[in-house]
Amino acid sequence: MKLSKLLAALFVGVLSLSVHAEEPIIIKFSHVVASETPKGKAAEYFAKKAAELTHGKVRVEVHANSTLYKDKEEMEALQLGAVQMLAPSLAKFGPLGAKEFEVFDLPFIFRNYDDLHKVTAGPVGVQLFTKLEPKGIMGLAYWDNGFKSFSANTPIKLPADLKGKKLRIQSSKVLEEEIRALGALPQVMAFSEVYQALQTGVVDGTENPISNLYTQKMHEVQKYLTITDHGYLGYAVIVNKKFWTGLPDDIRKQLAEAMRQATDYANQIAKAENDQALDLVRKSGKTTVYEPSPEERLAFKKALVPVHKKMEERIGKDIIESVYKATDFNPNAL
Ligand code: LMR
Repeated sequence: MKLSKLLAALFVGVLSLSVHAEEPIIIKFSHVVASETPKGKAAEYFAKKAAELTHGKVRVEVHANSTLYKDKEEMEALQLGAVQMLAPSLAKFGPLGAKEFEVFDLPFIFRNYDDLHKVTAGPVGVQLFTKLEPKGIMGLAYWDNGFKSFSANTPIKLPADLKGKKLRIQSSKVLEEEIRALGALPQVMAFSEVYQALQTGVVDGTENPISNLYTQKMHEVQKYLTITDHGYLGYAVIVNKKFWTGLPDDIRKQLAEAMRQATDYANQIAKAENDQALDLVRKSGKTTVYEPSPEERLAFKKALVPVHKKMEERIGKDIIESVYKATDFNPNAL
């Protein structure tokens, strides 16, 4: 065969190979926070690992900052299969009917990340994921974010300073009760709407881990931020069950490994990302950051820990007690 013919045959061969090359499996991963948050970074990390470990057979498309769906819509989209993967805050599972997840919202239930990991990496974490399966959802991992602080346009030193204020919260009944326990007015609102609501005075204040506050520029429209660390906000990474169980075994295993690595990464960076965000908020000079004294912190604890008992019926006494047991938490010893 002449060289030109050989080359032509080779060219046709390559062409037909590429035509027949399998299309990658697409995973749409939607979330509501900025790309430079712990969740945003971990989602990108997962996408990279998924491509590497499946040798390009899976492409994860990350849609950040509510560009695809807002809070409530993203849950519906996952159930319908319009997206395959999400990482909603643990405070957003109540409307789905998985009220037990609101145990994570109980004020002061975790003293630190170590307490939290005893729950997320232990039997309670596994037990909670089983609640999702009847809803066509599977839980793959828990990703950390951080501890929440209150912000407003008036100084906050004691619970009484929040009395009568309209405070934006996520869609959790426990958080509603928390805000009422302060004598304030809870306003459930999608994350994407918070900045504007703060700016226009639709709400007076809110609670957030600092990474969320900073990346949404909320500190530019809140004059005061008090480091209350009164509750935790983190995530469950979830997938559409039909999609996940329908994947070829080898691909599912590779994706599970990519998720394991992304989870390690997420949980390694979360605290540092929040510390760094607090530094940047301080440096911005746009809000006054206040560190409460031990007495002031105790006043917040005394006002908020009674929420545990009040929400016992909704969350389940057994789940709350399992968390207490895992973390050695005694609600009577403040
Ligand atoms: C919020 O709505 O405040 C958070 O759940 C956003 C997030 O995903 O961290």
